Amino acid sequence: MNPLLATLQPYPFERLNQLFASVTPNAAYGHISLGIGEPRHATPQLVLDALAGATGELAVYPPTAGSLALRQACAGWVARRYGIDLDPTGQVLPVNGSREALFAFAQAVVDPRVVNATVICPNPFYQIYEGAALLAGAKPYYVPSDPSRNFNIRWDGIDDVVWASTQLVYVCSPGNPTGAVMPMGDWETLFDLSRRYGFVIASDECYSEIYFRDEPPLGGLEAAARAGFVDFKNLVVFTSLSKRSNVPGMRSGFVAGDAKILKQFLLYRTYHGCAMSGMVQAASIAAWNDEAHVIANRELYREKFAAVTPMLAEVLDVRLPDASFYLWAAVPGGDDEAFARDLRAEYNVTVLPGSYLARHTEAGNPGSGRIRMALVAETAECVEAAQRIVAFVNRRKNK
Ligand SMILES: Cc1ncc(COP(=O)(O)O)c(C=O)c1O
Repeated sequence: MNPLLATLQPYPFERLNQLFASVTPNAAYGHISLGIGEPRHATPQLVLDALAGATGELAVYPPTAGSLALRQACAGWVARRYGIDLDPTGQVLPVNGSREALFAFAQAVVDPRVVNATVICPNPFYQIYEGAALLAGAKPYYVPSDPSRNFNIRWDGIDDVVWASTQLVYVCSPGNPTGAVMPMGDWETLFDLSRRYGFVIASDECYSEIYFRDEPPLGGLEAAARAGFVDFKNLVVFTSLSKRSNVPGMRSGFVAGDAKILKQFLLYRTYHGCAMSGMVQAASIAAWNDEAHVIANRELYREKFAAVTPMLAEVLDVRLPDASFYLWAAVPGGDDEAFARDLRAEYNVTVLPGSYLARHTEAGNPGSGRIRMALVAETAECVEAAQRIVAFVNRRKNK
């Protein structure tokens, strides 16, 4: 077997299952999960209709590059959302959800023959980045999100020695779990560093359409265009329909950016055999071409967060994030595992300990003392969970 498989870390939900193994939840309450970040709002009818109307596609092998119509729909969305004109034939590639693409990308980009080949991951982070780096034969290097900078990363705080061996940097904006949107100044710093050291930037933007400010989150392509990098050299962004259109089971997204890199990535994908089904392509075109369902979806999240966040802010150090569907809260006492375990036992609510989403470095574990709450259920259920969390914290205080 590939020995690198042994370097993979247990997934956070495996650790959560272990944490809960000895817990007997209070039977007086039904279970509410704020654990997994799986969208639960209804899938739009127009996507279902497009899927049902495209069953004929099952009779043929789909091309790995996707149909021109799909790539045009993706480019059309980028033009409307970010004001950027992409070449649909060279600067856009459909992928089966951003997860597989974020993983595969490291396999295509990293040259493991280089001593100390390094992949930079934010910390805390979406766990796929780490596994992708390890299986590509690289060393992950974790940079903490900084609570004093709205959980953004200080790119200019990383040592030159680290940059010199860095081949790939994962950016997650809006961030999971922090919900932070990376500001233009940080993009400029990162672009300057990429120009100096030649690394590739993979910008994971799958939460870009769920936001709480008036202004939509700045995207990587948009930042590059503003900074004058119209060819998007060394930049590839990853986006997805899963959250935007409530279709996590459809497995559909696209990558866009540097045409030279995408050409090589397409070659990799051709061998990998991960072409998107023609049915899914047809449904994806319908989804990318429609914005009304996205606006309605965002409104649901806004109402939900407006109801839940102030309730939780009474007892936890938490505030409305820039974007995403997570609350990233500091817990009283600072023990995130004990908080999650006892909350499950006493009130049957699942939250994810923040330390499971981050790695311990010399600077400590930036997730410890925090919990992630995914507000993906309907508002009433999330409000009920918040009420239980408030009761739980107040009861602990009085113990
Ligand atoms: C930060 C981040 N990136 C990527 C993904 C993958 O999403 P999908 O593969 O459904 O596009 C997720 C899913 O939860 C995520 O949280």
